[in-house]
Amino acid sequence: MRTVTFHIKRYDPAHDAEGSTRVQSYEIPHAGQLTVLEGLFYIQENLDASLAFRYCCRASICGSCAMYINGRYRLACQTNVLHLHTDEVRIEPLPHMPLVKDLVCDMTDFFAKYEYIRPWLMRSSEAPAKEILQSPADRHKLNMPIDCILCGCCYSSCPSVWGEDHYLGPHALLWAYRFEVDSRDEARKERLPMWDNERGVYRRHTITNCIEACPKELNPTEGIQWLKMAAVRRRLFGKSR
Ligand code: SF4
Ligand code: FES
Repeated sequence: MRTVTFHIKRYDPAHDAEGSTRVQSYEIPHAGQLTVLEGLFYIQENLDASLAFRYCCRASICGSCAMYINGRYRLACQTNVLHLHTDEVRIEPLPHMPLVKDLVCDMTDFFAKYEYIRPWLMRSSEAPAKEILQSPADRHKLNMPIDCILCGCCYSSCPSVWGEDHYLGPHALLWAYRFEVDSRDEARKERLPMWDNERGVYRRHTITNCIEACPKELNPTEGIQWLKMAAVRRRLFGKSR
């Protein structure tokens, strides 16, 4: 049986002063295949029931287990300790996010900004009797943004977010892009003021940390660049495409 040591950054608002964290280490036995999330379960069930972390799907779909593991943004359920090539694993909550407890961050602002861009289809015409058809080319435009699982890694990694509370962030702008390029959406006029403003695309400085941080290998920068160009086209020609 092999062992791996998890060094976990911990914070308990009931005992620790605000902003002060400590590192606690735990040794975990494993037979060769162990995800970081499974290691956290082992700790919670066998060594320290007070450890707090988030998870849901255990399949890289829900985004709730995003953490900072050995210096990189990763999903705990997707990260096999063997692939880290070390028996020492440092685990921290998403950096630059307010902490609730241990590895659990406060995602209130993150989701409020996501909701702000109204992430649902908006239509002005009457609902069709059947489904709204889309050409393969139009559906193809959604391939990248639709894979976003709202894990928060891009948001946590973005210096524009650290420096400006109001900035919507790469995730919200990626979702704004996702609905702008959706041929079924009919709310371009209503959507424009949501991101064509000081909270939106003009707060973003093309630092591109988001691309490196995204555990789904998405490119929020590409979507935000598209929005910037769309804003210019609308001002010059009155249309975004
Ligand atoms: Fe997570 Fe990537 Fe979506 Fe950002 S773009 S929230 S990093 S999946
Ligand atoms: Fe859902 Fe990891 S538990 S992405």
